[in-house]
Amino acid sequence: DLQDLQKLNVFFLFLFSEFFHSFKVLPLRNHPETRRMNRVEGLRANSSQFTLERKPFLILGGSIHYFRVPRAYWEDRLLKMKACGLNTLTTYVPWNLHEPERGVFKFEDQLDLEAYLRLAASLGLWVILRPGPYICAEWDLGGLPSWLLRDPQMKLRTTYSGFIDAANSFFDEVIKKVVPHQYSKGGPIIAVQVENEYGSYATDENYMPFIKEALLSRGITELLLTSDNKDGLKLGGVKGGIVRLPQKPKMVMEYWSGWFDLWGGLHHVYTAEEMIPVVTEILKLDMSINLYMFHGGTNFGFMSGAFAVGLPAPEPMVTSYDYDAPLSEAGDYTNKYHLLRNLFSHYHSESQPLPELPPVHERRAYQPAVIQQHISLWDSLRFTDKPFKSERPVNMENLPVNNNNGQSYGYTLYETTITSGGALKSQNNVRDRALVFVDKHFVGVLDYTVQELAVPDGKGKRTLGLLVENCGRVNYGKTLDEQRKGLVGDILLNEHTLRDFNIHSLDMKPAFVNRFVCVSYYSVSPPTFVFPLGNMFFSFNILISLRTVMGNWLCSQGWSKGVVFINGKNLGRYWSTGPQQTLYVPGPWLHRETAYTVIFPHKHL
Ligand code: GLA
Repeated sequence: DLQDLQKLNVFFLFLFSEFFHSFKVLPLRNHPETRRMNRVEGLRANSSQFTLERKPFLILGGSIHYFRVPRAYWEDRLLKMKACGLNTLTTYVPWNLHEPERGVFKFEDQLDLEAYLRLAASLGLWVILRPGPYICAEWDLGGLPSWLLRDPQMKLRTTYSGFIDAANSFFDEVIKKVVPHQYSKGGPIIAVQVENEYGSYATDENYMPFIKEALLSRGITELLLTSDNKDGLKLGGVKGGIVRLPQKPKMVMEYWSGWFDLWGGLHHVYTAEEMIPVVTEILKLDMSINLYMFHGGTNFGFMSGAFAVGLPAPEPMVTSYDYDAPLSEAGDYTNKYHLLRNLFSHYHSESQPLPELPPVHERRAYQPAVIQQHISLWDSLRFTDKPFKSERPVNMENLPVNNNNGQSYGYTLYETTITSGGALKSQNNVRDRALVFVDKHFVGVLDYTVQELAVPDGKGKRTLGLLVENCGRVNYGKTLDEQRKGLVGDILLNEHTLRDFNIHSLDMKPAFVNRFVCVSYYSVSPPTFVFPLGNMFFSFNILISLRTVMGNWLCSQGWSKGVVFINGKNLGRYWSTGPQQTLYVPGPWLHRETAYTVIFPHKHL
């Protein structure tokens, strides 16, 4: 019963389409053959079942986001998806990674969307593409680039000109890349999603028609669909959409196979025993399904979002996006995987058994890392650009850095001169967390809960420093326009407004990290296993003398808070508050001889 399923927090998709055709049974794994034959008609929703080439087609889908999986593992994860009995891959497209600065587009390496689509096609998987521009996905600002927030009037996800001009130029780039990969052109894309659960945002009734038109006018010809949660179902469609008609196909577009974790919260587990009966029931009802996620992967770098709905302050997401999904973060099979494979095998013809399970990747234990060198935060500042001087605090996004795109992620150090101690008040203008220093000595933390701090008295002029960390922008809910980071307003000392700041942008891009790892570090002698001091960058080498370099889990136990880089790649944040206690280290990111790691710990907590 649809209503029961809705209670189980599943997501539904509704479609619009113009034609009706009769249908015959189509075996699930036949599309490499259809690729070769002349294609006549792609996915349609004109009867109670989907049809592909005018034959009934049950979508057995799973989400794997290419940007959350090291490229070297794309094939491994997709083969495992195929071997589980799925026939369709769904993926979002993250605008913030593809256009890190306005007008600068990146589609290489990890972001080579076309290569991902070609790979899916070569393995015989169909694709449902979810190109945004907003994607939610527990991704910083729901995938929207932070430079949009430089405009103080910005109204994200509306037809406000500042937003649609930017969305148009992103779509100009991305849609022309995906158009040749559509079904009608011999590619794997059988459907394209219009935005993402707009029904739960619904601030501008012209917005969804605009996005739909933006796709159509750029050559998207496959079936369009929308996806909404139960509260948003009424408002999330676009004109022409068919909503909940009994004679239309039904699909659970996001069947949540698990859930994400927040720092400081509990680890979420959704057991196979709970999951399998529900999936079984969905399939019995002849409904199509997409497992969100089939394989979650990792929020590498500073890409994890934050959750704020119903909370007094945003709570940031952890680095892992394991999601308790059927295929684990490291690509391992789980109990859910095996049970689902068994279930899906019944939907395959006996003449075409499921492919053998691809082997799992071995992992290797390495020696504990020994710290060899360190550099203090203050000394590292010489490797950043010149600080920006400003009378008032300026939020990250509006700093004149990165070719005037502002600072998107990482840390910003605000320094000013003080001549007394007293009560330092943030007035809730710290986004999200500041380590406070007086003459480089740590005095405390300001965040959403602690908004006042005692600054000790001292003689003469001293430097007050606030090292503000952007812990991740909210990705869902009505507060997207308010996601500016750094200091977003005035700070008071003894009720006097602080002025005249020196602002250092520490966005921890690989160029910065690589710059200081190449030059003079202070040696730790003798080498040590423990972090002796706070607010330092540390480096240590891991000697890998094995033939094959293998991945592993980096255990951050005993470390308080920071980020880890391996060979210039940002593995993500760690935080002793948990629940995550290890960071995934993909084997292909380690080097044969030595791996160089840099950590930025906050020792003081
Ligand atoms: C919604 C969104 C997804 C994701 C899930 C929760 O369904 O559409 O992008 O955020 O919630 O994981």
